[in-house]
Amino acid sequence: MKQLITLNINDQNYDVIVTPMDLLVDVIRKKIGLTGTKKGCGQGDCGACTVLIDGKPELSCLKLAISCVGKKITTIEGIANEDGTLHPIQEAFLDNGAVQCGFCTPGMILSAKALVDRNPNPTEKEIKTAISGNTCRCTGYIKIIAAIESYANLVAEKGDK
Ligand code: FES
Ligand code: FES
Repeated sequence: MKQLITLNINDQNYDVIVTPMDLLVDVIRKKIGLTGTKKGCGQGDCGACTVLIDGKPELSCLKLAISCVGKKITTIEGIANEDGTLHPIQEAFLDNGAVQCGFCTPGMILSAKALVDRNPNPTEKEIKTAISGNTCRCTGYIKIIAAIESYANLVAEKGDK
């Protein structure tokens, strides 16, 4: 049975009609039109669909949309600055050549941002653990880790989240 729910995404409320089985990733992409969140495997293996729910990285292909009512969802579109300029972590990915095809990038960035938000001085091992659920099929891990380290350094220097 369809029902009207309200999802808070990137600090904006969206009223959407869903079925109890509608997945968050599909609602975000198809009903709300925020296509920055990617759908790869659709079964919890690749991390492309990662969004932040109440600040924690979650796989939106494994979440029912109705289970996210009342929570604060952040997608990649939600981290850019209001004037449309990129968030410093996005800049760090570009500056370090950490974006190839870009399919993994939104999920990778959100996993990394959540890490640095809670731990501004992550070790390389902690970075690897934080992105262990995000697969880069272009295999650019060395540059991705360098980008995350450079963003963490920036945060440590400036307190810039
Ligand atoms: S699409 Fe969700 S983990 Fe692959
Ligand atoms: S940049 Fe292509 S999947 Fe990571």
